[in-house]
Amino acid sequence: MKIGFIGYGSMAEALASKWVTKHSLFIGGRNLEKAEKLAKKLGKTVEFGSEAEAASFGEIVVLATRHEAVFEAINAAGGSDALADKVLLDINNPVDKSDFLAKTYDGISLAEEIARVVPNAHVVKAFNMCQAKVWQMNPPVFDDRPFVVMYCGDNNFAKQKIATLIEDVGCEAKDIGDLKYARMLEPAAAIVIKLLLSGHDPYTVLNLIQPELKAI
Ligand SMILES: NC(=O)c1ccc[n+]([C@@H]2O[C@H](COP(=O)([O-])OP(=O)(O)OC[C@H]3O[C@@H](n4cnc5c(N)ncnc54)[C@H](OP(=O)(O)O)[C@@H]3O)[C@@H](O)[C@H]2O)c1
Repeated sequence: MKIGFIGYGSMAEALASKWVTKHSLFIGGRNLEKAEKLAKKLGKTVEFGSEAEAASFGEIVVLATRHEAVFEAINAAGGSDALADKVLLDINNPVDKSDFLAKTYDGISLAEEIARVVPNAHVVKAFNMCQAKVWQMNPPVFDDRPFVVMYCGDNNFAKQKIATLIEDVGCEAKDIGDLKYARMLEPAAAIVIKLLLSGHDPYTVLNLIQPELKAI
């Protein structure tokens, strides 16, 4: 698959490092030097450039900026027209770290708001439930069992592509339904973030494993 990243932070690096051997990748963002740095770190086949170039490159476009910048990044990518027919992978957690509540958009989730703003794209929510360190594990296996990644979206073709990408990270994909179920995934992640930022071990925050058994 051709995958364009908008953003070059921790999550982009964790996921791209898992997909680089199987897929064609493009790292895009507002700072070309930072995009180039990650692209070079991932390997010489990885291209880099602007948000718009990443959107044009990818059949899958990963929205991997900080959550407050998602709509600015969509605009920089060329907006709704540039993203039409793309699979938009939303990994973001719209969590206000002052009170650890998930921000909503008039009662709907960030993922649904993205779908409202980019109506001709196919938004799938996934990978938001764990810290980047977990996605970096090679593979994310706990107690000999692969980690289960919940995902949701309204388009089955798009969801099948994201399920394949979940499996490529070494996890088991679990379809939890339509995109409206992002209303549950986003606040669930807020609880995880609250525990992480209060000092909880990232490998145990979902009771995946006892601390003494952690893989790294
Ligand atoms: N880190 C995790 O463990 C984790 C886990 C699950 C989900 N998530 C979600 O994944 C998303 C990315 O997190 P991250 O940890 O990868 O973030 P990060 O390492 O802090 O990287 C943030 C990225 O956003 C870009 N950015 C910030 N403001 C921007 C703007 N106005 N326009 C364009 N790009 C902008 C940054 O570019 P510059 O460097 O140029 O500012 C950088 O590429 C977040 O929404 C987060 O909630 C994170």
